[in-house]
Amino acid sequence: MGSLTSPRAVKGFADLFEPQSALFTSMENTARRVFGMYGYKELRLPLLEYADLFARAIGEETDVVQKEMFTFPDRKGRLLSLRPEATAGILRACAEGGLFRRESLSKVFSCGPMFRYERPQKGRSRQFHQLDCECVGAGEPQADAEIILMLLHFLREMGIRDLVLDLNTLGCRACRPAYTRALTAFLRTLPPDHLCENCRRRIQTNPLRVLDCKEPSCRSLLRDAPLIAEYICPDCAGHFSDVRALLEDQGAACNLNPRLVRGLDYYCRTAFELVSSAIGAQGAVAGGGRYDGLVAQLGGPDLPGIGFACGMERLALLLAGSGQEQGRPDFFIAAPKAAGTALSLAQTLREAGLSGEAAFSDGSLKSQMRQASRNRARFCLIIGEEELARGTVMIRDMDKATQQPLPRTDLPSWAAERRA
Ligand code: HAM
Repeated sequence: MGSLTSPRAVKGFADLFEPQSALFTSMENTARRVFGMYGYKELRLPLLEYADLFARAIGEETDVVQKEMFTFPDRKGRLLSLRPEATAGILRACAEGGLFRRESLSKVFSCGPMFRYERPQKGRSRQFHQLDCECVGAGEPQADAEIILMLLHFLREMGIRDLVLDLNTLGCRACRPAYTRALTAFLRTLPPDHLCENCRRRIQTNPLRVLDCKEPSCRSLLRDAPLIAEYICPDCAGHFSDVRALLEDQGAACNLNPRLVRGLDYYCRTAFELVSSAIGAQGAVAGGGRYDGLVAQLGGPDLPGIGFACGMERLALLLAGSGQEQGRPDFFIAAPKAAGTALSLAQTLREAGLSGEAAFSDGSLKSQMRQASRNRARFCLIIGEEELARGTVMIRDMDKATQQPLPRTDLPSWAAERRA
């Protein structure tokens, strides 16, 4: 037989082992707890949707829809996409499930993997995970302030404090067109050969996105670009100043960033990102904004909405080495000649509330003790020939390197003391 190559993971799709997997679980649990305090209810969504949903919600001209979706036909030729984000699916599900008809305000949380065909690099992968919250039915500035404060609350609970909150307003259907016209007119005055290829294309398709180009030559040309603040209508200006005042009242410092435009087309009014300078070029840990009118655009009632998504891989980069790993097991049972007894003692200890394992095999005492150290167990319970004959167990404290014998019948009370 020829040599077989081993199967490999798909490029940009990572396997998450401990301690990363434990960190992800702890993020999800903290998110559930904190978002629950603000009235958010969890929704579990499918990973696949009809491709058309994303084109309609995110925008035909966005990079996500143009270049980054995993889209393929099913067996009947219908185009499906792996979700590149959660907002479109959440709104589709809530409209389809009748939630928007039953509730005047819907607060929904969802988490899980998203898929974008991007060039993998630090903080950017093709399968990544988001914690996503959507608040649908409230257009008031209080809703904007609350959801941003909730995101900051969650990050504080995760031990993260030093992120910059970038904030901007993108205007509304009434005032944005005048701004887009002014911006496009300005962009057309620039020498095209000094702009990157992306920006040249975006002048035609999505001029707002030119504003957040990271290319130094584009950035310097854009220094004198008109800013949205000069064009927004009094309603949008009032809304934005209320949001800022509410955040300020709560001690949430924000950085007004007139160039923050976001990569998805559904936004209006408030847009925000939480950015870190500690994790390299992909520094946006979370991003979101208001999307009034999007639910109607997807065939639902005309409701305002605001939401955000937090990237779990980027959060994990920030938390790397912060010691947020799972606790140590309480015990390991080494019983080279009594694997059956070890199994039954392990059950007794677990039922008393301790965590740990028993060796399965008849290996040597030395190798089983090594396994106890590798597991980082606090106590190694040893049953050698002498203990077997006397009905005892030797309890070794692995940190202090001390040991003492105990009758096996006393183990439940020993376990109860350890638990307390
Ligand atoms: P987004 O800015 O495209 O917004 O993504 C939100 C976050 O997901 C980013 O800030 C980043 O942390 C993470 N992220 C995005 N792409 C990748 C990637 N390729 N690899 C690793 N992490 C990534 C949205 O997705 C909107 N749906 C957020 C939203 C909800 N707006 C309103 N509601």
